[in-house]
Amino acid sequence: ATEQTFSILKPDATRRNLTGAVNAVIEEAGLRIVAQKRILMTKAQAETFYAVHRERPFFGELVEFMTSGPVVVQVLEGENAIAKYREVMGATNPANAAEGTIRKKFAQSVGENTVHGSDSPENARIEIAQFFSGNEIVR
Ligand code: CMP
Repeated sequence: ATEQTFSILKPDATRRNLTGAVNAVIEEAGLRIVAQKRILMTKAQAETFYAVHRERPFFGELVEFMTSGPVVVQVLEGENAIAKYREVMGATNPANAAEGTIRKKFAQSVGENTVHGSDSPENARIEIAQFFSGNEIVR
């Protein structure tokens, strides 16, 4: 089925001027960027977004990193977009990411891993709604 997923190009990507390079991999995979904006995430936004990781030892570091520079938030649409984008991103830890994936090509560490993508349809809906209103998504 056609799905939408939520994507973030993280500060390590914007810092290295990789927005276009990452978007090229996304589009070559058949995913369509139907919404996109460059923002500075506030601490409150990052804490809300990563609330499920609140008890993890890396939570503080994660929030610090995600607010350390611009991010590009996106809605991607396509056939099986959620699973497809996770495939295109590659494993969370770039050391384990498959050849050709975004994280294999660009990511520097498990923390600075270039991209985020939703892990389920429910989380995709929640994450999209945190950053986009309906009229900002243009199919
Ligand atoms: P993301 O898909 O954005 O969701 C949670 C993030 O936590 C994950 O990507 C990683 O970037 C980050 N993360 C996971 N494990 C670690 C870790 N051990 N140290 C720092 N960050 C981590």
